[in-house]
Amino acid sequence: MTNSSNSPRDSALVRAARRQSVSHTPVWFMRQAGRSLPEYRKVREGVGMLDSCRRPDLVAEITMQPVRRHGVDAAILFSDIVVPLAAVGVDLDIVAGVGPVVAQPFRTHADLDRIPELTPEHVPYITEAVGMVLAELGATPLIGFAGAPFTLASYLIEGGPSKNHEHTKAMMHGDPELWHELCGRLAQIAGGFLRVQAQAGASVVQLFDSWVGALSRTDYETFVQPHSRVALSAVADLDVPKIHFGTVTGELLASMGAAGADVVGVDFRTSLTDARARLGDRYAVQGNLDPALLFAPWSALEKAVRSIVAEGALAPGHIFNLGHGVLPETDPEVLTRVVQLVHEVSAR
Ligand code: CP3
Repeated sequence: MTNSSNSPRDSALVRAARRQSVSHTPVWFMRQAGRSLPEYRKVREGVGMLDSCRRPDLVAEITMQPVRRHGVDAAILFSDIVVPLAAVGVDLDIVAGVGPVVAQPFRTHADLDRIPELTPEHVPYITEAVGMVLAELGATPLIGFAGAPFTLASYLIEGGPSKNHEHTKAMMHGDPELWHELCGRLAQIAGGFLRVQAQAGASVVQLFDSWVGALSRTDYETFVQPHSRVALSAVADLDVPKIHFGTVTGELLASMGAAGADVVGVDFRTSLTDARARLGDRYAVQGNLDPALLFAPWSALEKAVRSIVAEGALAPGHIFNLGHGVLPETDPEVLTRVVQLVHEVSAR
């Protein structure tokens, strides 16, 4: 569905994020650019993940693929939450099927020397890639993103993906001074990365705190929220709506909104109706189809999509999305069909 105006600022996605009226419910998918698409696998052949994130031509091509194919209401820049860490010199890699792996886990005060400030000069390829994407996007908005301090800290401290975040929580409670110093630096890096994308022309930003649901609300508010607030405030003067998302965050939604979000991302474990009850009318919501339901028979999937659109219509603003990222084995044709259905049933 095309936007009725030719500026991304007037697009359904930006308007919904600002809780303004929309012609239809905007829809995009977390991880829409990636392994569910054969055209993605083709252009990535023989190119490492981090290398592909540093090549503006590839970034622009991969960012555009899901927009061309599905007709989603937004592009999200193809990158990764650890790209800015690699850019400032942290020795890490993104291992296929595993995720980010850090050569030397971060554990002591001495390790702070390995986390310098991010400047725009660290990521010239981001500015260049955003420029290339905007030229092709027209009125469709681009979403810039960064990983939030907690999720980045977990990868750095654990050294890779973690189920229990035990070293992370041990530092948080055992050496709060070091924890806050580290997260202060990560907030600068995350905020700086969002700012580069917004200044280059991204119309919306999303701060991913994917694993923050591992924390209690008290720990979140004490150890994480101040840093996420700093990261989000880095774009406060740029007039871009801010989406904040994590998983297993039913208990944290209001606190995540209070970190400075305009839109709170809701995972599939909390209904949009419950989320709205917890958030009140100050935030738009984004979500929250269970990505596993994309494997269900169409009749079951259709029912779930319709129900989310209906729940979302009662919120002050709704951006349709999954409750977490597209799974790699997802049939891309099903995603296209979901986009069409959301547009059809929400057309006002
Ligand atoms: O959403 C998009 O389409 C834009 C691109 C994007 C990627 N990573 C590309 C990627 C985005 C927004 C991310 C964010 C990201 N990266 C998050 C937050 C979102 C979330 O899912 O919660 C996290 C936690 C990461 C860390 C990370 N990087 C993981 C867990 C993985 C998957 C590991 C695997 O192979 O299963 C990656 C690698 C990664 N990032 C891939 C892509 C397309 C797969 C690498 C490949 O295709 O070789």
